[in-house]
Amino acid sequence: MEPLYDRFADFYAAGPYPRYTRALIELFPTVQERYNLPGKGSLLDAACGEGTFAVAMAKDGWQVTGIDQSERMLQHARRKPETAELGIRFLRRDMRSMGFNAEYDLVTCWFDSLNYLLQYSDLSQAFSSAYQALKPGGYYLMDMNTIYGLAFTWQQNPYYIQQDQDGIFEVHSTSYDYENQIASLHITGFVRLPDSGLWERMDEIHRERGYPVEQIASLLNTAGFEIIDRIGHLRDFSPPEPETPRVWFICRKPA
Ligand SMILES: C[S@@+](CC[C@H](N)C(=O)[O-])C[C@H]1O[C@@H](n2cnc3c(N)ncnc32)[C@H](O)[C@@H]1O
Repeated sequence: MEPLYDRFADFYAAGPYPRYTRALIELFPTVQERYNLPGKGSLLDAACGEGTFAVAMAKDGWQVTGIDQSERMLQHARRKPETAELGIRFLRRDMRSMGFNAEYDLVTCWFDSLNYLLQYSDLSQAFSSAYQALKPGGYYLMDMNTIYGLAFTWQQNPYYIQQDQDGIFEVHSTSYDYENQIASLHITGFVRLPDSGLWERMDEIHRERGYPVEQIASLLNTAGFEIIDRIGHLRDFSPPEPETPRVWFICRKPA
């Protein structure tokens, strides 16, 4: 496997990426109220990245564990001052085999993370692993880009500057493989080295797969989950339509 979120982790942490997660954090109390989710408890944030969601939830009183496959993203998460203060655990694990057993009230997986799983069998392993990690009656909340989102919304600007700030420059180019329903994002970043002032280049190619919403639902059911809702628009919690770029699932492990 090519390195994923390796040197790019520094660009991710410095760039606009955590904005999406911050918007979810703001909306979270509404989601809790609407679906009668527990107010506090133990939370596992799968593919936690640089820890923005994990930290916010720990500040809100949750006991939080974050897992991610990228050591460099985890380093950013561990370096946040709240991590030690609030006793958050950040562990390097693959979300397909997290290895927890009925320990959590809530498992979350946000912001494209599941789209990085390129085979149905990977997705089904990730769902089973989340199911296994939950206590009976616990909730699994996640989102994914839809096929429409990756094939159309992502492709609207095939080349663009993602960030241009002091000492960091990052450009993206996207493409879509219709046969395999896989979107590629070629990330090229430059960082100015503090000592020499020279620019160092890095490249990462990220591949994300879209899955039909019905197939995602079917894999969730096969893993044992009851699907409470599938959402296409967070502004009014309306269901996904054919041109919905992202879908959110609210699932529960039966008590
Ligand atoms: C777009 S980031 C989202 C991070 C975080 N969930 C957030 O909301 O900011 C995607 C994350 O998925 C992680 N990831 C991808 N495949 C993974 C896997 N198989 N197991 C664990 N983490 C994975 C990446 O390392 C990256 O941190």
